[in-house]
Amino acid sequence: MKLQHILKAQQFDLKVLDEIFENAKTMPEICQQGGTDLLKGKIMATIFYEPSTRTRLSFETAMIRLGGELISTENAREFSSTAKGESLEDTTRILGGYSDLIVLRHFESGAAERAAKVSPVPIINAGDGPGQHPTQALLDLYTIKNELGKIEGISIAMVGDLAYSRTVRSLSYLLAKYSGVKIYFVAPEVVKMHGDIKNHLTNNNVPFFEETDLVKVAAEVDVIYQTRIQKERFGENLDDFEKAKDKYIIDKNILKVMKKHAIVMHPLPRVNEISVEVDEDKRAAYFRQAQNGLYIRMALLKMILVG
Ligand code: CP
Repeated sequence: MKLQHILKAQQFDLKVLDEIFENAKTMPEICQQGGTDLLKGKIMATIFYEPSTRTRLSFETAMIRLGGELISTENAREFSSTAKGESLEDTTRILGGYSDLIVLRHFESGAAERAAKVSPVPIINAGDGPGQHPTQALLDLYTIKNELGKIEGISIAMVGDLAYSRTVRSLSYLLAKYSGVKIYFVAPEVVKMHGDIKNHLTNNNVPFFEETDLVKVAAEVDVIYQTRIQKERFGENLDDFEKAKDKYIIDKNILKVMKKHAIVMHPLPRVNEISVEVDEDKRAAYFRQAQNGLYIRMALLKMILVG
């Protein structure tokens, strides 16, 4: 199956998700063999208007492992012609003339959809401000499936910055496609989950609960999905940031009450919301999760550029 733009989590159905996961499963072996020339002759453009370690570098590694090449602008606000006043639409048209696909991270919600409207090549949304991060949600779901053996019927606690976290927004949309999923939202008052996601869950018969006691919730769920309180999203309103930070931290006390099979996930980067003492516990899945990002992104590049 050939994919086109990847803009938001809602665009995937269960059949496509299964195909992405089946493709991702084949990628570790390709990496172990040093790569393939499947995408020889193809060029990927990565243009990032916000900082990134995992998303940009895993996409770039994915392209190299699959035999393609890349052109890249990091810190595009400063180092692309955006600094001279060029519009996102014009930049997209130009990059579309140089490359076979564009991976775009932008600071504004909806930017990837704007770019897709004028792009002659597929656009991948690599995070659009507080909007969505669909490829992160795909790797999150893939990680849940690998770690727990299933997605149907799981219970998950989403913790931390739920108002601005594009990863929890995208993951909520994907989880709503699976039967029996139960979601607990545990967030400081100033960054609670927005109504659009709660309405989507209600409309899709996904039970969700807003809780304040992390210890109580941690004892019940299969997945704790922790997120960073994103200082950069608060603007001038640093009082709210101060109120939210350090409220919910995953540490040894949380590990003690968690089920034996349960896992801790985090899209990363973390600051202090997961203590480093948690890293050595086998239920700490966040580094394996980041590694899965490479395999999922290899699968997506293959499905977009070859089929
Ligand atoms: N999870 C994630 O998007 O990480 P980066 O910001 O490092 O890409």
